[in-house]
Amino acid sequence: MTTLLSAFTLRGVTFKNRIAISPMSQYRAVDGYANEWHRVHLGRFALGGAGLVYAEATAVETDGRRTHGDLGLWEDGQIDGLKQIATFLSQEGAVPGIQLGHAGRKASERRPWHGETPVDDEDVAARGEAPWTAIAPSPIPYADGWPAPSEMTESDIERVIDSFGAAARRSK
Ligand SMILES: Cc1cc2nc3c(=O)[nH]c(=O)nc-3n(C[C@H](O)[C@H](O)[C@H](O)COP(=O)(O)O)c2cc1C
Repeated sequence: MTTLLSAFTLRGVTFKNRIAISPMSQYRAVDGYANEWHRVHLGRFALGGAGLVYAEATAVETDGRRTHGDLGLWEDGQIDGLKQIATFLSQEGAVPGIQLGHAGRKASERRPWHGETPVDDEDVAARGEAPWTAIAPSPIPYADGWPAPSEMTESDIERVIDSFGAAARRSK
């Protein structure tokens, strides 16, 4: 009989059960780098017995972060912190997963505890965190009161595709 706790194999990867931890943004990274916060946050789910533990939305480009606290994999230096976490998860019997992403027009947003509104000069004054211009398929703001993103050119699209590829290789 198959239950929640039965193992299964998907494209050569075997999960010890069907419990998967969704990606949950923590907004605790510095310059996209994982730290002790991420190690404890993700590690505890492996200790709890989940078969699959997803790291949070991880930006493939600096400007593809939603907030200044998002994780990233846009440069090689960001690999090591995540690799240590992935190694720990594997040792504890969980499959490490990752959600690579680009925030598009939701980029340059304040962390939830700073209001989830667009970053502006107040954030520069408070934390030295500058706003940046988001890119998106169309120059349509995320919501009322948000700045319009810059409409992506074909070369932007090519670059973002390449960035997803590079980040996927770093994830591996
Ligand atoms: C704190 C928190 C952070 C989240 N961050 C992400 C994220 O990084 N990426 C994502 O796709 N969903 C994110 N979500 C959504 C969850 O992954 C999940 O889809 C959502 O909680 C619904 O799943 P549930 O019905 O099992 O609770 C987040 C949810 C929470 C509560």
